[in-house]
Amino acid sequence: MTTLSNDPVSALAHTNIALIKYWGKKDERLIIPYTSSLSLTLDQFYTETSVRFDQSLSADKVEIDGAAVSGKSWQRVHDFLTVVRQLAGINAAAEVISLNHVPIAAGLASSASAFAALAAAASKAAGLQLTSTDLSRLARRGSGSACRSIFGGFVEWQRGHDDTDSYAFPLQQTGLKDISVIALTVESKPKSISSREGMNRSVTTSPYYPTWVNVAQNDLVDIKLAIVTNDFTKFGTISELNAMRMHALTLSAAPDFMYFNSETLTAMNLVKRLRHQGIECYYTIDAGPNVKVICQQANKPQIVGAFTKLLGPKRVTTLQAGPGVQYL
Ligand code: PMV
Repeated sequence: MTTLSNDPVSALAHTNIALIKYWGKKDERLIIPYTSSLSLTLDQFYTETSVRFDQSLSADKVEIDGAAVSGKSWQRVHDFLTVVRQLAGINAAAEVISLNHVPIAAGLASSASAFAALAAAASKAAGLQLTSTDLSRLARRGSGSACRSIFGGFVEWQRGHDDTDSYAFPLQQTGLKDISVIALTVESKPKSISSREGMNRSVTTSPYYPTWVNVAQNDLVDIKLAIVTNDFTKFGTISELNAMRMHALTLSAAPDFMYFNSETLTAMNLVKRLRHQGIECYYTIDAGPNVKVICQQANKPQIVGAFTKLLGPKRVTTLQAGPGVQYL
């Protein structure tokens, strides 16, 4: 048994945007993906979480953004804490206090930063001293994409075969440094089909799923080459294609579903129009209607200007590469 101090441990983790998407679990319980993925950790959206284990608590207490949580959200945190307790050999309940720092109504709060911060804070509060690889493996158990938010900059999640070798690591060779991301808030409501359900339906019903597994692997090889050789055009082209290939799985599932709304399509068209005019930019979209535009510094003012005109300034946020998880 570990001796617990009752002091809270706090950690901060940033969210990340996948450029080669993770979409589909081979193992639902351990969250082992069918494919490897690659992301960029971002510098502005983050989660701060503190955890304290306390023998005198009768059950886990979870507060998110100032409100006590119950139901499904509580269960998810509780299940994750149970994994931590098993690893540490403790049985105390915990108090978790979590704050998401995202621009008002950005609709970009993410389970990636949430579970990366929770993994770091909870493991340390439980007396575990994990390497960053083991922290990544642990964060993966909360939410797949969280394993990438342990690290800053460009991060690869190698799919692995089981719990021991499915984890993320930062890319060592990164020739490509000039990258900006413009986050467009098309909608701030939570998505109607969770990524968990969306992935499951895609894996089990889309006839294109086996093709995705091959294509995503090739996309990953190509994008890593583009990053090493500082080829922004290739980098952006592959990111955009890979995102559309992921969304093709939702369109080809049964029953089919779609994360885009009409404003998503308008934003995608504007990216294409700007590109046609020689202002180089690309889009990527996760499991929701919001769009992220990838560009380089020189073109940023014009692109921000065009989207501010379309959506208003509150719905356009510019981001850069951000750091990995930190203790506070
Ligand atoms: O980690 P989850 O379960 O929130 O799934 C993330 C899925 C995508 O954001 C669409 C892709 C990715 O790789 O982050």
